[in-house]
Amino acid sequence: MGSTTHNPDHAALVLGIESSCDETAVALVTGDRRIVAQRIASQEAEHAPYGGVVPEIAARAHAERLAPMLQAVMADARLGLADVDAIAATAGPGLIGGVMVGLVSAKALAMASDKPLMAINHLEGHALSPRLADPDLAFPYLLLLVSGGHCQILGVEGVGEYRRLATTIDDALGEAFDKTAKILGLGYPGGPAVERLAREGDPGAVALPRPMKGSKEPHFSFAGLKSAVLRAHESGDHTAADIAASFQQAAVDCLIDRLGHALAAGKWPALVVAGGVAANQTVRAALEALAAQHDMRFVAPPLALCTDNAAMIAWAGCERLPLGQSDPLDIKARPRWPLDPEAEKVRGAGVKA
Ligand code: KG4
Ligand code: ZN
Repeated sequence: MGSTTHNPDHAALVLGIESSCDETAVALVTGDRRIVAQRIASQEAEHAPYGGVVPEIAARAHAERLAPMLQAVMADARLGLADVDAIAATAGPGLIGGVMVGLVSAKALAMASDKPLMAINHLEGHALSPRLADPDLAFPYLLLLVSGGHCQILGVEGVGEYRRLATTIDDALGEAFDKTAKILGLGYPGGPAVERLAREGDPGAVALPRPMKGSKEPHFSFAGLKSAVLRAHESGDHTAADIAASFQQAAVDCLIDRLGHALAAGKWPALVVAGGVAANQTVRAALEALAAQHDMRFVAPPLALCTDNAAMIAWAGCERLPLGQSDPLDIKARPRWPLDPEAEKVRGAGVKA
């Protein structure tokens, strides 16, 4: 095995690769929370004509971009593979073709450099990303993980210790934002476009449902909200801005209600949000107010760490390295990979990352 700690004072340096959806990303991150270099290439332009991510196109784009991007990040940092302590890559869940491109590249680098390989769960990357941004965020914390493929409430008790308290029984929240954008003709990706348009609308203008609100079950549901958005649009009675604002308000109300359910069952020192939808300012403001009501700290990573990126994957590697965790070179890429394997299956729960 190569030297993993050449100098005890030197913080570990981890190379991270992310390729599970439509972002190709590479980052170098240190154990003392420095993002030494990072690059990210979005495939928005390739997928926009189809109104969503096309797996085959995504895999091909990752395959074309990843190697030159690795070279560029190492050049940006003026470092070589010999300076790196471990290679981390997303190994799932996600679109399998893309995941394989990133994971196989990481295996080749790990083998060539004789450094440990870390096969990272993409959701673990999101779950630990707030600790990269905030050195004071200690375990445990209550995490709302809201992305294009997932909508979960997790108890994060330590590295590798995740308890799923709630998930969606149908659509993820990011998916609901994307579908609303599609219905309103705002294009892809939808979340930021819905947020922008919502600023010009009245959040009380359109009566929309709050699925699961008040339910004794802990879970989320967004399919009914999406159908109601479609009906509101087809009625011709409302402006797109009013629909966008009302949808966003309904979504936020659902988040607050479900988090209230989780907080009624247990106290947590901090409320943390991660994943692409955590970039939404209305969502962040509502969560911040909820945390204040419950006397909890509120932590939300900077916007660039919310949406998919490789710094969070490298950081997950930094968290695991001191625990002596690494993975064998024959580890498999996994299209599905729940963070909490003990959690009961819930019908229709999202499959994307
Ligand atoms: O975490 P992420 O980049 O990728 C996944 O792992 O899924 O999340 C992407 C999702 C998309 O559904 C996108 O529409 C949503 O996050 N999103 C937003 C915003 N920015 C991204 N949703 C609402 N408001 C935003 N500002
Ligand atoms: Zn993600």
